[in-house]
Amino acid sequence: MKHSFSPSKVVIVGAGMVGASSAYACMIKGVCKELVLIDVNEEREQGEVMDLVHGSQFVETLHVHGGDYRDCKNADLIVITAGASQKPGETRLDLAAKNAGILRSILKKISPFLARETIILIVSNPVDVLTAVARRFLKRHPQERIIGSGTSLDTSRLRHYLGEHFQVNPRSVHAYIVGEHGDSELCVWSSANIASVPLSQFRGYNKKKMERIFEQTKNAAYEIIKRKGATHFAIGLVVAELAEIILKDQHTVIPLSVCPHGLYGIDHVCFGLPAKLGRAGIEGIIPLKLSASEIKKLRASAKTLKAMLRKISVC
Ligand SMILES: NC(=O)c1ccc[n+]([C@@H]2O[C@H](COP(=O)([O-])OP(=O)(O)OC[C@H]3O[C@@H](n4cnc5c(N)ncnc54)[C@H](O)[C@@H]3O)[C@@H](O)[C@H]2O)c1
Repeated sequence: MKHSFSPSKVVIVGAGMVGASSAYACMIKGVCKELVLIDVNEEREQGEVMDLVHGSQFVETLHVHGGDYRDCKNADLIVITAGASQKPGETRLDLAAKNAGILRSILKKISPFLARETIILIVSNPVDVLTAVARRFLKRHPQERIIGSGTSLDTSRLRHYLGEHFQVNPRSVHAYIVGEHGDSELCVWSSANIASVPLSQFRGYNKKKMERIFEQTKNAAYEIIKRKGATHFAIGLVVAELAEIILKDQHTVIPLSVCPHGLYGIDHVCFGLPAKLGRAGIEGIIPLKLSASEIKKLRASAKTLKAMLRKISVC
């Protein structure tokens, strides 16, 4: 598990709401010694860097700066949060095509400086489609080192709502959202538990209420965007957590956008499944035992994503 990199450099491409919140969370968590922000909007990039470094005396991240793609050399982790957001009247497919174009242009600039050990984390949406685009674009890069944040945020949202309902810390809730980070995602209720006791055995369990919690989880981004225009704090914490898992080689299981390679009869698509993550990237997918109806929903989710990939000429 040894690697030759000196600790530890994170590059964030896209210094918008998500990129800046990710940088802020990484700084507070002290996950790296060097943090670089790159954005096509240089004013924005500089402004975010200035705002972040003015807090340097209170954190352990030593060097936060703006940069260009040459800074990707020797990066341990490159996080992609750049992209356009959905405009009124624009379909998700239009957005997918636009952001796939932006992602390819960024990867082209990163490529000359990319080391085999570098891990690329895609956060921009549609994250599962873009993870597949990145894997195909960087065919020669170790594929286990190209990952998407997948349903990690959705799972965190679910655990928050379940924790609130059952009055327990979300860390003690073991439940997963899998599939697309989006409308076709599903909750794996068949194995959801608190301290290995099925949810159904807890006071307050009610199937209808569980369904409402799932809907609340699935629609959370729409509800936040309606109120404040973007979601960025929680995803920033997710990015900092993933950075810490990678840089400290923690072998932690967390749902990520990965290719199932035939698991559940699904291939040629990336979406959220619990995976073991460390400094070498994805070390394996955890084969959750799913019910027949969950497998059916997961296959439908894969089908939705495949259709989108086909329409933007990825498969
Ligand atoms: N995966 C998740 O769970 C999750 C959660 C929240 C948001 N997101 C996604 O994260 C992305 C960013 O969201 P945001 O709120 O920060 O948007 P934003 O508009 O605030 O920031 C996007 C940034 O990307 C930059 N950018 C655009 N093209 C670029 C290029 N070619 N090179 C470098 N930088 C470029 C823009 O200048 C801007 O600063 C969106 O796609 C959003 O949907 C994902």
